[in-house]
Amino acid sequence: MKLFQKFQKSPKKPSKKPSKKPSKKEEKVSEEINQEITLLDLISPAGLKIDSNYIQVGQKYGRTIFAFTYPATLTTGWLSPIITHDEEMNLALFIHPADTNAVLKNLRKKTAQIQSQISLQAEKGKVRDPILEAALQNVEALRDQLQQGAERLFRVGLYITFFGDSIKQLDDVGNEVRALLENRMVYAKPTVFQQEQAFISTLPLEIDKLSIHTPLNTPPLSSTFPFVSADLTDNKGVLFGINQHNNSLILFDRFSLENGNMVIFAKSGAGKSYTVKLEVLRSLMQDTEVIIIDPEKEYKYLTETVGGTFIDISLTSPHHLNPFDLPIPGPDDKPADLLRSNVINLVGLLKIMLGGLAPEEDALIDKALSQTYAARDITPESDFSKITPPLMQDLHTVLKGMTGAEGLVARLEKYVSGSYAGFFNQPTNVELRKKLVVFSIRDMEDELRPLAMYIILRYIWNIVRSQTKRRMMVVDEAWWMMQHEDAASFLFGIAKRCRKYYLGLSTITQDVADFMKSKYGKPIVTNSSLQLLLKQSPATIGVVKETFNLTEQEKFMLLECAVGEGLFFAGLKHVAIKIVASYTEDQIITSDPAQLLEIEKAKEELAQEEAAAEEKIREAREKTADEITKMAAEEIAKEAAEKATKGTTEEVEEEAKEKTEEEAKEKAEEEAKVEVAEEAKEEPAEEAEEEAEKGVIKEPPKEPIEKDEPDLAY
Ligand SMILES: Nc1ncnc2c1ncn2[C@@H]1O[C@H](COP(=O)(O)OP(=O)(O)OP(=O)(O)O)[C@@H](O)[C@H]1O
Ligand SMILES: [Mg+2]
Repeated sequence: MKLFQKFQKSPKKPSKKPSKKPSKKEEKVSEEINQEITLLDLISPAGLKIDSNYIQVGQKYGRTIFAFTYPATLTTGWLSPIITHDEEMNLALFIHPADTNAVLKNLRKKTAQIQSQISLQAEKGKVRDPILEAALQNVEALRDQLQQGAERLFRVGLYITFFGDSIKQLDDVGNEVRALLENRMVYAKPTVFQQEQAFISTLPLEIDKLSIHTPLNTPPLSSTFPFVSADLTDNKGVLFGINQHNNSLILFDRFSLENGNMVIFAKSGAGKSYTVKLEVLRSLMQDTEVIIIDPEKEYKYLTETVGGTFIDISLTSPHHLNPFDLPIPGPDDKPADLLRSNVINLVGLLKIMLGGLAPEEDALIDKALSQTYAARDITPESDFSKITPPLMQDLHTVLKGMTGAEGLVARLEKYVSGSYAGFFNQPTNVELRKKLVVFSIRDMEDELRPLAMYIILRYIWNIVRSQTKRRMMVVDEAWWMMQHEDAASFLFGIAKRCRKYYLGLSTITQDVADFMKSKYGKPIVTNSSLQLLLKQSPATIGVVKETFNLTEQEKFMLLECAVGEGLFFAGLKHVAIKIVASYTEDQIITSDPAQLLEIEKAKEELAQEEAAAEEKIREAREKTADEITKMAAEEIAKEAAEKATKGTTEEVEEEAKEKTEEEAKEKAEEEAKVEVAEEAKEEPAEEAEEEAEKGVIKEPPKEPIEKDEPDLAY
């Protein structure tokens, strides 16, 4: 109103001619008009057409429906699909608390009615009616609850107005909304001849003009609360997948949680590795270094694509890791502690290598390890960056010199000089330089795999401790490690401590039961802020349900979901997730053999095409080169021929010229001679004449004066 008045009162442009003063009557009318026009008039449409089952506002059509019946049981969040449905709509939920006393009175009446019906039928000798009995039980139970104050009763009205650009579209949207409701056994129908009241009721005005209510007690009413799905969308981080509750994105930075660890459990082929590869690919773009222990050699293609390092670890491979390596101490690490903990770790490793250690052997090994380091002059005071770590061979030699260690020496023999020496008795020659480093242990013998995993993990851990960087470590098929207590304990140690070194550990396993059997399994899970459960097998779902406190509904979802779908836990929030990759990502990370074969085939074809194209280019080049050579040769020949002809002409010309010159010379000489002779003849006569004239007689020269050869004209 104010706004409008301001607008009305804004000074008008002064007109040149003073306008005629309005009469009093006119002024009154104008004032009345001004007062009647409100902001609502300004923003409201020009008209509203109200039909029996729709309203029309401008070009938009709207229709309201109301829920009139509900099922016996409602599931939590049944309203959320409607709320998140991608259509424009207004939804109003009116909850009017009912007067408990009045309700109890009604219920008492109802009980009496039902009971009398039952006894009437019994008197008539009819068989009992289960419907009446169930109704009586329900009413009685409700009366008890209401009487005790454990529950309250409400009158609930649910109205939904949806919109469309045409009647047809309105019908379509209406069908969709009603189908969504009917999926949950909630039935709705349009408010025929009450569209205006219905429309007003769904506006945010808090006016229930429809008053179409269903009585609901507290538990079913609480299930209407629509916002059950947690939102896991952050401003930064990587996209993990799509939230299936509300189609929002699950996007966040795993390092923003209490710890950056993740566990992934699912049956074989459910998409565990796929999910991790996708995260790796996306994390690499965010400057996170990734180290993977890959027991299936399935990360090779990904590594090649992103230009990472792929290290094959096997008995015959040229890559070695020395278990005796020591970490370079960080700023607040004490070398003495590092050496001590390294020795303890080595005892754990040797326990696996030697098939367990008796207590006295344990003590011997511990002593021998300290001596092995000491033999290489490695003491807590040494600079660990300059030392040469000992090899397994050195430990063997030390053990040989110890009394009572004969058994140990014999058992260690195969790692020092036997077929296993290739991997266990060599100095380290690999480095973690690239952003993505994958250690593949597929070609390692089965019984040595846990050992290899352990040694690789120790190596990685030493590097991680020496230099803090944002890193992610993936241990695929981690159950290999969980088979041995010492290896499992080491993995747990990493999970517990890696947060301090900016490392996030991802543990993947398909055998949940095996993983949980280890006493370190559960602590690893509880030390992981992120937990991903994909499709589970019926055999393991019990363990999973117990470990993750799943509801029955979540349990069934995990049994029935498709590949790449599951439950995602981030801290306390959990959502149903669908992992989706782009086409390019899919081509890089898939492990589907059929798809891999296709990619391989496509690659071969491409290579062949490229080779063919190259061949063509080469041929074309050769051809052109030949032609050019030919043309050049022809040109040269032509030039030569021309030159030859020219040469001959020149020679002839030169000869002719020489001849002419000679002739000319000869002629000139002769002429000169003749001239001189003539001059000689003429000169004395002329002189005599002159002298005679002067009176002087002079004798003529007896011989003509010999003249030098004349200079050539050129
Ligand atoms: N989100 C997804 N979208 C499309 N395809 C997927 C998805 N997740 C997995 N797949 C496909 O399913 C197959 C199995 O996936 P994956 O190799 O990740 O299984 P896994 O759980 O690691 O199995 P295993 O335990 O045997 O290693 C692959 O062919 C992969 O391409
Ligand atoms: Mg896998």
